This record gives sequence, structure tokens and C-alpha cells, in this order.
Amino acid sequence: MFCVKVVLVGALASVLIAGCAGDEKTAKGKHLYNHYCSHCHGESGAQGEGFNWERMPDPRPKNLASQAEMSTFSDEEIFHTISREMRDTSDPAVQNDDNYFAVSTMPTFKYTLSEEEIWSIVGYVRTLHGMSLTYDLGSRKQELEQLFQSAQQEMEQAKSAFEAAEQKVAAAQAAKEAAMTDEELENYEPEEVEIPEEEAFTQASVKFESAKSDFEGFSKRPRKAQIPRPDLTISEEALAQQVELGKKLYSEKYGCHGCHSLNEEGGLVGPALDRAGFRLNPTWIYRWILYPQSMKKHTRMPNLGITNDDAKALTYYLGTLRAPKSEAPVTSME
Ligand code: HEC
Ligand code: HEC
Repeated sequence: MFCVKVVLVGALASVLIAGCAGDEKTAKGKHLYNHYCSHCHGESGAQGEGFNWERMPDPRPKNLASQAEMSTFSDEEIFHTISREMRDTSDPAVQNDDNYFAVSTMPTFKYTLSEEEIWSIVGYVRTLHGMSLTYDLGSRKQELEQLFQSAQQEMEQAKSAFEAAEQKVAAAQAAKEAAMTDEELENYEPEEVEIPEEEAFTQASVKFESAKSDFEGFSKRPRKAQIPRPDLTISEEALAQQVELGKKLYSEKYGCHGCHSLNEEGGLVGPALDRAGFRLNPTWIYRWILYPQSMKKHTRMPNLGITNDDAKALTYYLGTLRAPKSEAPVTSME
């Protein structure tokens, strides 16, 4: 449990220190697992243990505490399951993609936690079935750092090349103008000169920004800018389509029903959404589902990497959820 730091000498010291670092990672993974996973998977990983188990739609998770079942997954496969993009699981292309974990009710944490945190969770999940992480995290971090450094170098070189080309063009222009008479100059409009180095510089900058965010994202949680106020005005016909789409996205792409219930069906992790259309303001819903962590830092609702268009469709759909207040089931008027 505790990692006692004592001064030791020689080989023994490094063995113990390595052990300490491992324990700290596991402790971090355990903390994150208990907060973000245990309601569905159970604290020990056993089936039926989490408070959401009974209400989770099928398919239910495997027993994370069973070595027989879990040893068939590689560390990378477990990582991918926790860190994938959400995709429409009703799409045959997604269903037939063997490399994709197509269960909408297993949420992604790619947009909520750092890569390092997700690996610490994978490490902890391994301990639940008596194994340990073999994936080489150190090399992964080094690789990202090297990619970042070389992208930075390339970007700086492209920048100097562009600046040199720009100066050359300016010098040529100045020479041209110097050779003109006053009269010529008066009617002269310099033409736009394309500098090919500019495109290369733009590309290198894009590559650099992406390598930088990969490297920084290794240990920092993903952040987004404040979500701007959406324009939610829409025609009646378009609205009906959007509501249909939102309903589909709700269960087949983002698995909202794994955590939220409607008419007493679906998960118990978040509040029931039967009356969302009365209770919640559409602009608020849109902002919340795109970036819950900006409103409530440690909420158990992950940022699911929802696109702006999908967020609108989901918002229109939630706006139609207007069940009567009574808790009693609605009886039909036959
Ligand atoms: C809303 C409930 C829910 C939450 C929260 C959740 N999971 Fe899952 N998880 C599932 C479901 C459902 C499956 C898929 C079951 C299936 O098809 O096998 C699954 C599958 C998995 C699997 C693959 C094994 C399997 O059953 O196929 C792993 C590993 C896993 N989850 C780990 C995690 C971790 C780690 C977290 C927290 C970071 C987490 N899950 C959070 C519901 C959840
Ligand atoms: C892993 C579980 C989980 C998933 C998946 C999830 N939510 Fe949530 N949601 C929560 C929790 C927990 C809260 C409560 C927020 C809090 O207090 O932390 C919440 C809150 C909300 C609220 C505010 C409800 C209220 O009454 O205040 C809305 C709206 C909402 N979620 C919509 C969605 C939608 C739409 C999806 C799918 C795109 C979704 N959620 C997916 C767990 C989840």
C-alpha cells in the first residue's frame, strides 16, 4: 500500500525504487478505476458486483477478475477498448472491423484522461486477474518525445526556408521598383508572388502541433476550448430528422443508455433523462455533452469525443424527452 522511501545503497536500492514506482502507478490506476469503472465492472472486476450491473443493457462485461478470460487480451487491446473513438455500432463496416471494439455501452476515456492515466488503469486491470502490465511505457513516452523533437526541428527549418525565400522575393521586388521611372511606378501594382516554401512551412507547423499535443497529451488530460453558444434554430421538417438521428446516436454510437435510464430502462450511473426536455436548457445540454469536465471536473460522465453535429442531434432528441412527472408507469387509454 504505502511506498516507504528509505535511503538504501547499491543494487537493492534500485530494485526497491523500481518497485515503488510500480506501486504508485498501480495506486493511481486503482483510484481511477474505482471512480470511472467500478460502477459497471465492480471493484474486484467480478460480474454482478457494480451498482450499475443489473441495469446495464446487454452485452454485459466479461469477468475482469478471470485470468482465463482476460489473458486472451493483449495490453494494447485493453488500452484500445478504453481509449477508442466512439463509432456507430449499427454500421456493418464497424461491426465487421475486427480491430474495433464495437460495444456502445463501454464508454471511451480517450477525451477524459491522459494516455498515461489510461495505461495506469490497464496496469491495475491486469492486477485484478493476477497479471501485470508488460507494455513498455517508457519507450512509448520516449518515442513521442522524439517525434515531437524532430517535428520541431523540421518546422524550424521550414520556417527559415520560408523566411529566406520571402526576403529573396522582397529584394527582387525592390530591385524591380528601383529600376522603374516615377511615372511607371505611379501606375504600378505589384503582383502577388506565390512562395512555394510557405505551403511546406504550413504543413510542418500542422505536423508539429499534432506531435506536440500527442507528447503533451501523454501526461496531461485532454482539454478543449470553451464550447461556443450553438445556433439551435431549425425548421420543423429538419427537426424531425435530427430527433431520429439523435435517438440512434444515443444508443448505437455513444451508449448513453449504459448510464442513463428512460422509462426505468437503462443504467443508473447518471440521472434518469425522462424529463430532460422540461428540465434542461438546450444550450446547456449541448455544452454539457460536449465537455462535461469543463462544468464538473470529476464527473463520472466521460467526454465521449462527440462531434458538434452529433451533439446538436442529441440535444434535439433530449428536448423531446418530456415524460409526465408521475413515477407510475403510463397507462394506455384503451
Ligand atoms: C457504463 C458502463 C461501463 C463503464 C463505466 C466502463 N465499462 Fe468497460 N465495459 C462495459 C461493457 C458493456 C463492456 C462490453 C461487454 C462485452 O461486449 O464484452 C465493457 C468492456 C470492457 C472491457 C473488455 C472486456 C469485455 O468485457 O469485453 C474492458 C477491459 C473494460 N470494459 C474496461 C473498463 C475500464 C478500465 C473502465 C473504466 C476506465 C470501464 N471499462 C468503464 C461497460 C462499462
Ligand atoms: C459512464 C456513464 C455516462 C455516460 C456514458 C453518459 N453519461 Fe450523462 N451523466 C452521467 C453522470 C454520472 C451524470 C451526472 C453528472 C454529475 O453530477 O457528475 C450525467 C449527467 C448527464 C446530464 C445532465 C442530467 C441532469 O439531470 O442534470 C445529461 C443531459 C446527460 N448526462 C446526457 C448524456 C448523453 C446524451 C450521453 C450520451 C451521449 C451521456 N449522458 C452519457 C454519466 C454518463
